[in-house]
Amino acid sequence: KKVLFSGMQATGNITLGNYMGALKNWVALNNDEAYQCFYCVVDLHSLTIRQDPAELRKRARTLLSLYIAAGLDPVKNCIYYQSHVSGHAELSWILNCFTYMGELNRMTQFKDKAAKHTDNINAGLFTYPVLMAADILLFQTDVVPVGIDQKQHLEITRDIAERFNGIYGDVFTIPEPYIGKVGAKIMSLQEPDKKMSKSDENVNATIYLMDDADTVIRKFKRAVTDSENEIRYADEKPGIKNLIDIYSAVTDKTPAEVEREFDGRGYGDFKLAVGESVNGVLRPIHERMEELTKDKAYVDGIIKDNAEKATYFATKTLRKVQKKIGLPERI
Ligand code: TYM
Repeated sequence: KKVLFSGMQATGNITLGNYMGALKNWVALNNDEAYQCFYCVVDLHSLTIRQDPAELRKRARTLLSLYIAAGLDPVKNCIYYQSHVSGHAELSWILNCFTYMGELNRMTQFKDKAAKHTDNINAGLFTYPVLMAADILLFQTDVVPVGIDQKQHLEITRDIAERFNGIYGDVFTIPEPYIGKVGAKIMSLQEPDKKMSKSDENVNATIYLMDDADTVIRKFKRAVTDSENEIRYADEKPGIKNLIDIYSAVTDKTPAEVEREFDGRGYGDFKLAVGESVNGVLRPIHERMEELTKDKAYVDGIIKDNAEKATYFATKTLRKVQKKIGLPERI
């Protein structure tokens, strides 16, 4: 079986961007018998930005539940917390010693985050991609479904793995990114030349997965478009293009089909249709979330079982690495 690994940070509330760029593809792949899947809540990565402890714990649990609510089968797939499997941090340290400062300096996400959080440019923020490489390589991953913004992190992961294999032989599988054709980069509803982000200060810019139906409609109605009134998929119309992308991702229609469907109709109609289509996706997720919140024992069981399962696979790789690099054997 091929191994599939992906993760999301427990920072902030999950957005429609996270769903369309990642979670939606995970759900599509989780029933494919060809894959053994690991879906991680990357809580250690969240520490690169200062967190309120109670809030972090709550968000991590919400995110893990959301994976299940969105349709990932927690028995067939391994859904777990990064911090419950110590191999992530251990391998990360080792890989730090095989990663160059210059490589990390080129990471655009580091540059962006460092520019934004000038009061806390910590070493973890800098070595963030190394922990991500460890996440992926720990499971001998073949495929990593992510949005476009993670492509550079996948490239450095491959570079680190190839460098390591070059020295010690074939220790790591070299992973490939899996980036969906639609929805790989959902833009802000208020500034459609910027990606939709959890941390946007303007709440109208972002659809959160837990937004209620009225909020979703209201945000789409207020979405920034242009002064024409033509529903056309074009780079010079970033607002409409983004709405078409969202509608395409939900309905599985191509942008050309969406253009035809709304030919001659106004922006108001179109925005409402997009909002309703998104609500159609969110409704069952919200219902399932409500059930999961009530069933504490069920979610606890999943957390425990899957941490054990992930630890088993992680330890296999970790022991292999430790042996190769010359750390003393366990007696
Ligand atoms: P994170 O938590 O920022 O985002 C989670 C996933 O959502 C995708 N994404 C988007 N896709 C489309 N449009 C958007 N506007 C949008 N915003 C976010 C991201 O590409 C990502 O797939 N570093 C990762 C987490 C991580 C990880 C890993 C991922 C840690 N270790 C190992 C895969 C494998 C991150 O920050 O994702």
